[in-house]
Amino acid sequence: MNDNYLKVARLAAAAGAEILLSYQGRFSVREKAPRDLVTEADVAAQQAIQKILLSNFPDHGFVGEEEGHDQVSAEMLADPNHPPIWIVDPLDGTVNYVHQLQSFAVSIAMYHRGELQLGVVHDPVTKEIFWAQRGGGAFLNDCPIQCSQSDRLDQALLACSFSAGVRHDSGELDRFAAALDQAQAVRRLGSAALNLCYVAAGRLDGYWATCVKPWDVAAGAVIVSEAQGEILSLAGEKFDIWDPRFVATATKSLNDQLRRCLA
Ligand code: IPD
Ligand code: CA
Ligand code: CA
Ligand code: CA
Repeated sequence: MNDNYLKVARLAAAAGAEILLSYQGRFSVREKAPRDLVTEADVAAQQAIQKILLSNFPDHGFVGEEEGHDQVSAEMLADPNHPPIWIVDPLDGTVNYVHQLQSFAVSIAMYHRGELQLGVVHDPVTKEIFWAQRGGGAFLNDCPIQCSQSDRLDQALLACSFSAGVRHDSGELDRFAAALDQAQAVRRLGSAALNLCYVAAGRLDGYWATCVKPWDVAAGAVIVSEAQGEILSLAGEKFDIWDPRFVATATKSLNDQLRRCLA
């Protein structure tokens, strides 16, 4: 693949990260829906990222969480000749960011010919940049990373994400309770993208979500796969970025156990 894609994705992620840091503690916040926040920084970072990507690749598609860029048409996906589509979350972990909890990231992925081709997740606070290109392995800054060897659910450290509107009587909590019963421990860190990168780096053994959007997990999904992890739909089928309800784990055996546990 064109190495320039990765270079520009990393530049765009760094520009977004710088904007997030520059706004910290000083931004307006509004609710898109109850408990679903967006700040001025989310929007400014997305605008800067979009400008960098599309000025370098004017014919490419762009999907981003904010400002009405959140749709991709069925025709775009069905067309094998459609130019690459960038999938961007300018700030994954907005609630953490608003509360000055230092766990959030910029997430940029590229999708082309039915596959995710690359992913970059940039943590502005720790300066950790997780990245991968399809077939090229996964990296943290300049070092190759790999998932853990974990293949026992009772010894696994897991994380999961809930939707902003999660309710006590939803299936999301039933799955959480089942995992609490069977895993070593379960965390909720507040950034889907970072959760996936932590699986890729061996810091977590597994992560699942049933309510996230493509931009939350597109970059992290490539990074986990390239770190030798297993990412499958909840039903055990090929992961589909346009329907991201999935289980990502260090090993195939752990994936089987966790999917059975969540079923
Ligand atoms: C959210 C985070 C969170 C997950 C939510 C996402 P945002 O993304 O990834 O971990 O639980 O479902 O919406 O809104 O902070 O970009
Ligand atoms: Ca959001
Ligand atoms: Ca997100
Ligand atoms: Ca976001």
